[in-house]
Amino acid sequence: MNSYLILLKILSDGEIHSGQKLSASVGVSRAAIWKQLQKLQEVTGLSLTSIKGKGYCLVGGLELLDRKLILPLLASGVAGQLHELDIRDQIDSTNTVALSWALKNARSGYVVVAEQQSAGRGRRGRNWVSPFGCNLYCSVVWGFQNGAAALEGLSLAVGVAVARALKTIGISQVEMKWPNDVLWGGRKLAGILLEMSGDAAGHCQVVIGIGINVSMTDSLSASAIDQPWTDVNSAAGAKVSRNQLLARLLSELLPALLEFEKNGFEAFHSEWSEMDAMVGRLVTVRLGEQLIIGKAAGVSTNGSLALDTDIGRQWLHGGEVSLRL
Ligand code: BTN
Repeated sequence: MNSYLILLKILSDGEIHSGQKLSASVGVSRAAIWKQLQKLQEVTGLSLTSIKGKGYCLVGGLELLDRKLILPLLASGVAGQLHELDIRDQIDSTNTVALSWALKNARSGYVVVAEQQSAGRGRRGRNWVSPFGCNLYCSVVWGFQNGAAALEGLSLAVGVAVARALKTIGISQVEMKWPNDVLWGGRKLAGILLEMSGDAAGHCQVVIGIGINVSMTDSLSASAIDQPWTDVNSAAGAKVSRNQLLARLLSELLPALLEFEKNGFEAFHSEWSEMDAMVGRLVTVRLGEQLIIGKAAGVSTNGSLALDTDIGRQWLHGGEVSLRL
């Protein structure tokens, strides 16, 4: 492990640590420690406080992802569906890592999470802002037998699983914006990005990438988000443990994927519809270069959006929705 990450793990308790103790932990000189602490701040965007004569401190501490805390919190039976929980410090994108795993190994239930993504991907080529240690960045690999057509509605079902997890920590009134934005108070709380490998007509592996804003305290990163957003701590009105939230997410998501495999989106349809943020509202849907305007009229049991337009009802299978004022 990089020295600066060893230092971060020590400093994550929020206590003051002397330069002497830090250098002994990493096995380098006091002068080298200063450089490592600079690097830690540069790479993670965190800021350390130096207290004269005493040492260094990460004010407020930081809860790092920890399998020893996550695994015991999984709902019963879920550990059997979790093939592997891969916890990384910094990677480009959990979806990229999961896709490469999917290419090598066909087993469902591989989960990768990261403290920070340097190239987090959002839908439609957008960047997903992924600062260190504040949010959840999680990707799950799942195999499906009947090709891409059977996956219609999967991202909506995943949205329901995310909402269920949020509900277990006291966040109700979560809303869904078709096809796969999770909103709270009209602002984006979580995003879902599905990517596929394998045979589009037969056995394929899907990477289900989920980003949940938990504590977007890093104002520099937050200012780079190009849409109204919120985070779990604001919605819960309290500081939420990322380890607990991840355990809740996996406890809802893995069984939901099994359910989707058996019964498709139909099993999630009524729950999704109750959370539909768009129904009855005038919306614009962007389909590539085309813009379609109409009144949202709910989703079908396979996850398509009904839109009442000037030329009658249209069913949309993909696209990006924005509200029209
Ligand atoms: C969206 O645009 O709403 C989808 C955002 C998906 C972000 C998550 S974070 C974990 C996973 N890894 C990525 O690079 N993207 C997804």
